[in-house]
Amino acid sequence: MKIFNSEHLHPDEEIRFVSAGSGYFDIRSREDTWVRLEVTEGDFMVIPTGTYHRFYLDTQGYVKLRRFFTEAPSWIAFPRPEGDMYTAKHRDVVQDRAVLVEAN
Ligand SMILES: [Fe+2]
Repeated sequence: MKIFNSEHLHPDEEIRFVSAGSGYFDIRSREDTWVRLEVTEGDFMVIPTGTYHRFYLDTQGYVKLRRFFTEAPSWIAFPRPEGDMYTAKHRDVVQDRAVLVEAN
């Protein structure tokens, strides 16, 4: 869980499905502030390539997150500021595209 709690980014999209439990994804905004997304069972979300984020459990203390890949699975993560090379590369594309689709 340590990397989840630390601000990091990936050189590919982070596509997640919450199959159980709940928690919070914090997404770094274009203005360099945190935007908190509460996720619960059945939610599906995509964090764009090169977007800093972190994850915290809520008081329930349990979550089961499945990750999906569009290409060969890659679990590479860069902490801040090492990942800045990706934010610079994708700055115009990714900063406001974090998507959360809530369960019905
Ligand atoms: Fe991540």
